[in-house]
Amino acid sequence: MADNKRQILVTSALPYANGPIHIGHMLGYIQADIWVRFQKMCGHDAHFVCADDAHGTPIMLKSQQLGITPEAMIAQMSQEHQADFSDFGVSFDHYHSTHSEENQELASLIYTRLRDNGHITTRTIEQLFDPEREMFLPDRFVKGECPDCGAEDQYGDNCDVCGAAYAPTDLKNPRSAISGATPVIRESEHYFFDLPAFGDMLQKWTRSGSLQEEMANKLNEWFEQGLQQWDISRDAPYFGFEIPDAPGKYFYVWLDAPIGYMSSFKAYCAKSNLNFDDYWQEDSKAEVYHFIGKDIIYFHSLFWPAMLKGAQFRQPTNVWAHGFITVNGTKMSKSKGTFIQARTYLDHLNPEYLRYYFAAKLSSRIDDLDLNLTDFAQRVNSDLVGKVVNIASRCAGFISKKFDAQLSDTVSEPELLAQFQDAADRLADMYEKREFSRAMREIMALADKANEYIAIKEPWQLIKDENKQQDVHDICSMGIHLFRCLMVYLKPVVPELAQQAETFLNDRFTWDSAQQVLTGHKINKFKALLQRVPMEKVEAMIEDSKDKMAAAAAPAETVNPYLSEDPVSPEIQFDDFAKVDLRVVKIVNAEHVEGADKLLKLTLDLGGESRQVFAGVKSAYEPEALIGQLTVMVANLAPRKMRFGLSEGMVLAAGPGGKNIFIMNPHDGAEPGMRVS
Ligand code: MSP
Ligand code: ZN
Repeated sequence: MADNKRQILVTSALPYANGPIHIGHMLGYIQADIWVRFQKMCGHDAHFVCADDAHGTPIMLKSQQLGITPEAMIAQMSQEHQADFSDFGVSFDHYHSTHSEENQELASLIYTRLRDNGHITTRTIEQLFDPEREMFLPDRFVKGECPDCGAEDQYGDNCDVCGAAYAPTDLKNPRSAISGATPVIRESEHYFFDLPAFGDMLQKWTRSGSLQEEMANKLNEWFEQGLQQWDISRDAPYFGFEIPDAPGKYFYVWLDAPIGYMSSFKAYCAKSNLNFDDYWQEDSKAEVYHFIGKDIIYFHSLFWPAMLKGAQFRQPTNVWAHGFITVNGTKMSKSKGTFIQARTYLDHLNPEYLRYYFAAKLSSRIDDLDLNLTDFAQRVNSDLVGKVVNIASRCAGFISKKFDAQLSDTVSEPELLAQFQDAADRLADMYEKREFSRAMREIMALADKANEYIAIKEPWQLIKDENKQQDVHDICSMGIHLFRCLMVYLKPVVPELAQQAETFLNDRFTWDSAQQVLTGHKINKFKALLQRVPMEKVEAMIEDSKDKMAAAAAPAETVNPYLSEDPVSPEIQFDDFAKVDLRVVKIVNAEHVEGADKLLKLTLDLGGESRQVFAGVKSAYEPEALIGQLTVMVANLAPRKMRFGLSEGMVLAAGPGGKNIFIMNPHDGAEPGMRVS
């Protein structure tokens, strides 16, 4: 191995420092970790770095909400993130922060080089500004009515109801999602990175054939649409780095985020004997890979290589995207308890179960991956416990009790062993190409062979025969050799289990270990290596997730945010109020609307008249729960044509949204048609 030792730097996407890690995130980190562990087992110089992505408006606002400094918040988050990763066996060599000296230096250096090379321009743009908070509003912090379909409560970039994309300035009745104030349009000078100048280089890269097919297709779509100048500056107040020659202007979080890969590595170099330039200078021979989720391909496959090129650094060897996690077939849901935080998982279940399950489903493609919890338990139980660990537990007892814990001097089935050893190259190739699910299938097929062998030989019968003792010793030793091969191959996926196997076998596995045989070797007492997945723990985890999400959604007891975030509206006269005709209604039917993410279709009995209303309460209510309930509606609201039909009024509900929407309920005795005044 030593003569073709590779220099490899691997990164995982940097998680935002404004929230906990959830099991969706874990997919990418586990995928990268398996790949890195495999490379290290092969003896390559592989380094694995990550960091928290600590800048941007959401982080600034979140810390304000918590009443602490952003620095204090990101320090706390970083600790939690690192504990989560470490407990999941994700073995970063270094974990840093984008809010670090190294990152500020590198971001400034890269920006300055881009500027000096003529890749930065400035232009005055118009943007929505919150006059109360005195800040420009990112698209996601403006809400209003969709300019296309009129749906209420839509973000400034696109409409959840009809899918239209638009500029925040197109929204009707826009308001700031931060203060509730009506935004005004303001001009500001922004800094732009000249992405189109790198079109040729990016197209060449795309055509090189080294990218994932789906990624190359996406890039081609973007080329067809035409590359745009990229807005890299934000105005104060902003939590980030000030642009060196532009006081009051800050780097947009996505400018310094990928530079965080470099700065984390730089900090790692300072504590090891690695040389930063060997990995990042333009003509570097080292390999650099970024593992990312499919939602951030644009940043990694266009902006990032272009920035590096423009600042005279090497470009990544490759960027590998993975798909998104769904749980039980749908998007992770806070109300169903499938929005599972990494820590909640760890409180209930062994992390190696999830590592194995992900490996068993991951390929090199960008497909989404479903974590079906029943399938998860079955898969882990049947493969890891029922097949692999079972081999050792069937053989180990005899060796330690009858043969002085020593493996036999001969290999009784050299051909069978050779089959297991020959798999090493094929499996290595699959790991290298990130075809983990194929590797797991092949390993489990071998495990089946090992179990068949033991089942046919029946050492538990032979042991009764005085003359067959040597056979039993040979058979059980053979079983252990086969088990050991499998554990070598599984080590990147289940490092903890592999370590227990190493302790049991008095051994330490490298990828080459499978080619050696431990004849005549002393082993240790066998302890149960892995329990079956306890289904009740899976259920407890779901319940726990529901509780956690409910607690997180509830406002902190001491600070009620509603009035401060959404102050009482300007005074009105009684006549203004009297214009609104509020009536008690009965919800006689409620159903899902095909294609609508937020709406339920309600049929209301208004005391004899029937009204159809589309209400944005789907995130909080199952339709069945509403049928038969009384509520209050605005009965004289002008009907509105929506994509799904006519909406004839509005029902009253309170709450910030999501799970926290509460439909008004009159006291007992109220009847449909009664006026509310
Ligand atoms: N901070 C940016 C990345 C900057 S990289 C220079 C970011 N952070 S994130 O916290 O939102 O996401 C971190 C990683 O988790 C990303 O790779 C993202 O694609 C991934 N995932 C987030 N939710 C996911 C699932 N539900 N499933 C799989 N991966 C998911 O994006
Ligand atoms: Zn719309």
